[in-house]
Amino acid sequence: MSEHKMDADYGPSALDRGVQGLLGKGIDRTDGVAKVTGAAIYAAEQKPKGKLAYGYAVTATIAVGTVKAVDTTAAISMPGVIQIITDDPRLPSESPNIGADMAPRFDGVVESYGQIVALVIAESFEQARAAAMAVAVDYVPQKGAFDTMAGAATAKSPHEGAMLPDVVAGDVDAAMAAAEFTHDATYTTPYQVHAAMEPHAAVAEWDGDDLTLYGSIQIMRAARPLLAKSLGIEVDRVRMLSPYIGGGFGGKIGGPEIVLAAIGAQAVGRPVRVALTRQQLFHSIFGRSDTHQRIRLAANADGKLTGIGQDSIVSQKVGLSFFEPVALGALSLYAGAARSFTTKIVKLNVTRAGAVRAPGEAVGMMALETAMDEMAEKLGLDPIAFRKLNEPDVDPMRGVPFSTRRLVDCLDDGAARFGWDARVATPGSVREGDWLIGMGMATAARVNFLANSDARVRLTADGDAEVETDMTDIGTGTYTILAQIAGEMLGLPIDRVKVFLGDSDHPDGAGSGGSFGAASSGSAVQLACDDLVAELARRMDAKPEDMTLKDGHAIAGNKRVPLAELVGGSPIEAMGVLRPGRNSRTYAQATHGAQFAEVAVNAVTGEVRVRRMLGVFDCGRILNAKTARSQAIGGMIWGLGYALHEAAVLDQRSGSYVNRDLGEYHIPVNADVPQIEAYFIEEIDNHASPVGAKGIGELGISGAGAAITNAVYNACGVRVRDWPMTLDQILPSLPPV
Ligand code: MOS
Repeated sequence: MSEHKMDADYGPSALDRGVQGLLGKGIDRTDGVAKVTGAAIYAAEQKPKGKLAYGYAVTATIAVGTVKAVDTTAAISMPGVIQIITDDPRLPSESPNIGADMAPRFDGVVESYGQIVALVIAESFEQARAAAMAVAVDYVPQKGAFDTMAGAATAKSPHEGAMLPDVVAGDVDAAMAAAEFTHDATYTTPYQVHAAMEPHAAVAEWDGDDLTLYGSIQIMRAARPLLAKSLGIEVDRVRMLSPYIGGGFGGKIGGPEIVLAAIGAQAVGRPVRVALTRQQLFHSIFGRSDTHQRIRLAANADGKLTGIGQDSIVSQKVGLSFFEPVALGALSLYAGAARSFTTKIVKLNVTRAGAVRAPGEAVGMMALETAMDEMAEKLGLDPIAFRKLNEPDVDPMRGVPFSTRRLVDCLDDGAARFGWDARVATPGSVREGDWLIGMGMATAARVNFLANSDARVRLTADGDAEVETDMTDIGTGTYTILAQIAGEMLGLPIDRVKVFLGDSDHPDGAGSGGSFGAASSGSAVQLACDDLVAELARRMDAKPEDMTLKDGHAIAGNKRVPLAELVGGSPIEAMGVLRPGRNSRTYAQATHGAQFAEVAVNAVTGEVRVRRMLGVFDCGRILNAKTARSQAIGGMIWGLGYALHEAAVLDQRSGSYVNRDLGEYHIPVNADVPQIEAYFIEEIDNHASPVGAKGIGELGISGAGAAITNAVYNACGVRVRDWPMTLDQILPSLPPV
């Protein structure tokens, strides 16, 4: 076993000597063919051994109150109905960690619209759905609280141990009073949802006391113990499988469908599938809170910031403690002595707020970077020059060095590639027929995390490699990059490395979340391979550093031996164990980037079309150029959605979202997405992880919406601070036609 805790950098690894040429290459996804041909089986498609029954969730039609009675008389006699569960005393009303809404709550208390109150099980999905509509729930409704700003006065500060505690250094008020130039404005973002392509689904099958659960789950090591706890059984009674996931974005850290399928299957003595509908996801799965962000910037005439404040009000469902960590990206981004990053949390009867791609930065950087654009204009500075003037040498919060930070290079490289020098600073200066053309930019930043991760790697008798971990691939490319790392380490072509993921029988992987998946699980695979390399070297009578592994052969001295021969018939196995450590404190770790956008605003109608986007990113070592680029552009497209389209609109009377489907909750479609380019400034970050990578998945969204917002301002002179930038905000302020 090779274990490394990141209390220090990991020493020389065979990765640095690898000559297979796999690492970093833009290799096609190894699971790509299976996915496009339908051979990849997703949760809802799993075929258990027994005859499958179908569960459909009954959801509350009030936001606050109690369930007086559930009348199932009509529903139970409908065709195909097997059982209706309205009560299950085992279920905790609160599940710590993953959260209360993740377990259904059958105790008669309703605290938000759409809470799951019963489960109908039938022979088909359609029969279960029809019967669910016929379940008559008698509620005693109560008055709910739905308005974030109305509750602002009584809002609470972050709880002890929060991911983002309030951070105040110096006196921003005093800095604002003393500064020659100031900016003080409020920015708002709406409720948002994950909108993953694959809706949540789970299939559960019991064999005596043993449960097999197929789900769409990002992090097994989090979801599996929670499920066991909800069911009141030992964790090793649960085998969890999540081989393919059609997007997660935080929403599939765990969901109520997992618990529902398990209790349903137990109740009817058959395997049960629970698939939530798109409409149900809006209320049954947590989303992103609305945010109300006051940004303050103070600077002297030389453009140096003396104060920076990002103080936010966000909402959360009553009884829960997570909150959108809005200022996460701002914390260590710019110099400036006075700093204020605080959050007030308003408790409402709304859907639970939870992790949605880049919690904090996704919406926080949109506001901060729009404010930076406004401030640059006040100072008469180019927006890029303004940011470079405020580039800190060390982490301005803690005074520690950055592990790697290539923000200035990203800004310069991006400006050159994008053609930033063609931008005319005065808004409304460039016109092509009916279209006003503008350019905007913004900084991207995202904290970097590492997570516990274990992996087993085996050299088979054939001299091939097998990687096993319960790490998941949520569409990001984990199958591929782990094969690349193992192949590079062991000198094997990619088709001689098999990767097995998403099975809780395998060693505990990091899971996919917080952008930590690739660096964490990749490092675990690297560590395991280091052990295998040492063993192969021993069998070659060579030192590892004197041995070359390539194309399935070990080469040392004057010998070139096939790996199969070295393995000698009985497979060699090794475990890699990665643990985060002190490096996360002795270095400030973040990813950085520069976002650019060109937009056209119709001078007559106010319609905004994004013409092109370009991003340059610093994410440490790039493990696969193609999947990395896909992550980056996926995030950038999401930023486009946040700038122009996305909002879950809360009905202040009922506490429900009025636009609960992808027809009404607008996300960018192909026609909205223009020419889009992503590049990387690669610097191997050995302080961040043994494999030298930092997180990548959540960086692309950061700042992307601000670049578009700033481009709209540059195009037509209309400054929008409330997203999305709908026509009604732009049209009235357009210059006369
Ligand atoms: Mo993420 S929002 O931790 O998948």
